[in-house]
Amino acid sequence: MPSTVLVGAQWGDEGKGKITDLIARDYDYVVRYQGGNNAGHTVIHGDKKLALHLMPSGVMYKDCVPVIGNGVVIDPGVLIKEMAMLQAEGISCENLKISCDAHIIMPYHKDFDGADEKRLGENKIGTTKRGIGPCYQDKVARKGIRVQDLLDEKIFRLKVQTALSQKNPILEKIYGLHTYTVEEICDEYLPYARILKPFMAETAQLLNEAVRNGKSILFEGAQGTLLDIDHGTYPYVTSSSCCAGGAATGTGVGPKAIDRVLGIQKAYVTRVGEGPFPTELSFPEDGGTGQDAIDGELLCSAGHEFGVTTGRKRRCGWFDAVIGRYAAEVNGLTDVALTKLDVLSEFDTIKVCVAYECDGKTYDYFPMQQSVLFHAKPVYVELPGWKGIDITGCRTYDELPENTCKYVEYLEEVTGVTMSIVSVGPDRDQTIMRSW
Ligand code: GDP
Ligand code: IMO
Ligand code: MG
Repeated sequence: MPSTVLVGAQWGDEGKGKITDLIARDYDYVVRYQGGNNAGHTVIHGDKKLALHLMPSGVMYKDCVPVIGNGVVIDPGVLIKEMAMLQAEGISCENLKISCDAHIIMPYHKDFDGADEKRLGENKIGTTKRGIGPCYQDKVARKGIRVQDLLDEKIFRLKVQTALSQKNPILEKIYGLHTYTVEEICDEYLPYARILKPFMAETAQLLNEAVRNGKSILFEGAQGTLLDIDHGTYPYVTSSSCCAGGAATGTGVGPKAIDRVLGIQKAYVTRVGEGPFPTELSFPEDGGTGQDAIDGELLCSAGHEFGVTTGRKRRCGWFDAVIGRYAAEVNGLTDVALTKLDVLSEFDTIKVCVAYECDGKTYDYFPMQQSVLFHAKPVYVELPGWKGIDITGCRTYDELPENTCKYVEYLEEVTGVTMSIVSVGPDRDQTIMRSW
């Protein structure tokens, strides 16, 4: 199997976990390259839903090596709990490899994340409050503490001491929060070091050797294109490079080793947190009325659109081909897996946004100025649905109702990308492999 980047093509939660879990059996390595435990990837194990936050979804196969790359930020306590959860489910984590260059989320990162959101008030980002942004801030500012620092107690203490000399005054004087002692942090983190040490590795070297030996790698993206620090709806983004390019910097494998870039798109769109969302529908509890609120509520309930990490209700809207085309470009998508198509079986007709209108101007491309995106009115094409026909049992493309095929083919036409995988339910087998 050619090495592949699997990337969210919307605002996250597109079903990356399901598709990674489905195709990981064809790969020798599955690597997370960015983000941290802000991610929530759902995989189905027997009759249980498991939420993975840091562990690459390839962990479900014993012959697949899960790798946490250098571009990831790791909350060690969360990772250790996740490993225990998986082991209790009979899933071995013994093959896990953790990059020594990945940065560590410290307790003060989580404090800063929460405090900064509070400070921003109604301009908040709506973060997951897991300390992701502040940890990446320290990385870029060259003040971060890395996995390899855990290997040497003396170095770790020194780095914590240096960090606290800056963090404590800010915690206390700017935010009025509690401060930390070096001892407190070492008491918590040094036992983590002992548990994680056997998994630490020179992962860039390991992966490059794998490439040389003809092995295949699946790079599992977290979040999504529109949450990317450079290409997303800044500042309403996460703090890492979610796009396909991040797979190279976040692992140390050169871009020439990547053969395929699979985008994951939901058959509609959701978003958690703040920021522009042109096709957003409303919810009755937020004062939404009419068909807009009926459709919004139906997408949310039929799609079970509640965050895996925070439990927040996800904002829901119709498929947006403008961002679909944009995601195809900035990631260089070779093909797409379309997920949650079954959710649309609830609707008489289905809308697709093909362009935006703002101040008398039509945009069929992603607008240069964020303010346009905030005020954009979607231009919709309305397609006939397949209401009441249960498609969750379909296993070949031919079995799908005619209008379902027309919907998929319309999305291919307006985004310009082939949809090689079509997902019709959360289980592994509820999938149509069209050209995989
Ligand atoms: P991720 O963050 O991209 O991995 O996505 P999440 O796991 O946060 O959210 C996707 C949700 O949709 C999960 O609950 C999945 O089990 C579920 N899911 C994935 N594919 C399908 C599908 O084709 N149909 C339905 N009904 N649910 C799906
Ligand atoms: P997966 O991998 C959806 C969003 C947050 C917030 C913004 C910044 O499951 O698709 P952060 O805590 O990262 O600083 O928050 O990014 N966000 C996600 N939204 N799915 C995710 O991950 C997300 N990870 C972060 O809601 O708007
Ligand atoms: Mg998710």
